Amino acid sequence: MQVYLDNSATTPLLPEVAEAMKPYWSEKYGNPSSPHSLGVECERALTNCRMYLAQLLGVNHQELIFTSSGTEANNLAILGFAYNQRKPGHIITTSIEHLSVLNVMNHLSEQHQWQISYLPVNKQGLIDLKQLEAEIRPDTCLISIGLVNNEIGTIQDLASIGQIVKKYNQQQQQIVLHVDAVQAFGHIPLDIKKNNIHLLTVSGHKIFGPKGSGLLYCDHKVRLQPLFFGGGQENGLRSGTENLPAIIGFTKACQLAMEEYNSRLSQLKLWYNQLLEHLTEIPDHFINSPTNGSPHIINIGFIGIKSEILVHFLEAKGIYVSMGAACSGRRQSISHVLQAIGLTPEQAGASIRISLSPFHTRDEIEYAGKIINETVNEIRSIYQ
Ligand SMILES: Cc1ncc(COP(=O)(O)O)c(C=O)c1O
Repeated sequence: MQVYLDNSATTPLLPEVAEAMKPYWSEKYGNPSSPHSLGVECERALTNCRMYLAQLLGVNHQELIFTSSGTEANNLAILGFAYNQRKPGHIITTSIEHLSVLNVMNHLSEQHQWQISYLPVNKQGLIDLKQLEAEIRPDTCLISIGLVNNEIGTIQDLASIGQIVKKYNQQQQQIVLHVDAVQAFGHIPLDIKKNNIHLLTVSGHKIFGPKGSGLLYCDHKVRLQPLFFGGGQENGLRSGTENLPAIIGFTKACQLAMEEYNSRLSQLKLWYNQLLEHLTEIPDHFINSPTNGSPHIINIGFIGIKSEILVHFLEAKGIYVSMGAACSGRRQSISHVLQAIGLTPEQAGASIRISLSPFHTRDEIEYAGKIINETVNEIRSIYQ
């Protein structure tokens, strides 16, 4: 049996999504900018996707920019905003962001004299809201927060963060709130307007949609500078012929995620609890995920076991888990997230990330729980 438990890294394409995309590869292949009927048909499809997503997110269709990934949307949100300012300012983010945020922040501070404050987190991965407020200075113009952490599943208190941003903006300061919702979309409720979000990032391949698809919501009051220039597609913010098959697939994946929201969430919770029950029977374990985190992520360590060894032993038995974020998971370095929540290098090096999908079967979860338990014991008997 194979059990894929790395759904935070990526998810398989749903058959309905693949089906929706199919005609756009070879039959409806027009360029949405072309004046003839093939192009017009594709432009219409593109507009329909944008209108549908705008309605789903409760925003205006002109505020949506299709991108190639969550990474690109994060780059466009942060760099696009910063490059549009007259002079470098101050940004607040957290120490546990995805690298597509952290490395952009490094770039801005090293190459463009921006000042960046990285909020620490507690053992649960939560920022301190008082500290967030304390960091706000007269030149703070952007706050960038990952709503659900991709390694441990912590859910930040978005409602309170949104209220803080609103309060300062009512006092004549202009702070833009960017939310990286790549791991949140489809897993927790998201209200853009209610939470005073100005910029929001979503990625297609984390929600059973195609790779190469992403979305940035940008409030019409916020001005961004494009990162690349050309034909002026996407309101001039993302030149390049639109990847229509990916956009069609992304839209279908979003539609299914919303239509099946409640059933998927209750399935996820079921698998989460069932697997956790097995895992907590394993001696000398420690759970790194908070108890009230997103139910698709369990980060767990086993004392004395190197995560790299465990991942490969499990893989040989058909269980796919990861050591941390996929983009850094093959590197030997210690996870910045696990470090930030206070783990020692040994603890961090003994931790794995298990990320679930709603589409497992009871047998899969039973098998995974049993095999992980057996494998931890097996490795302990070999190496101790
Ligand atoms: C929180 C978070 N933000 C951004 C990204 C980047 O998304 P993409 O893989 O679509 O570039 C990821 C991917 O793992 C993520 O988990």
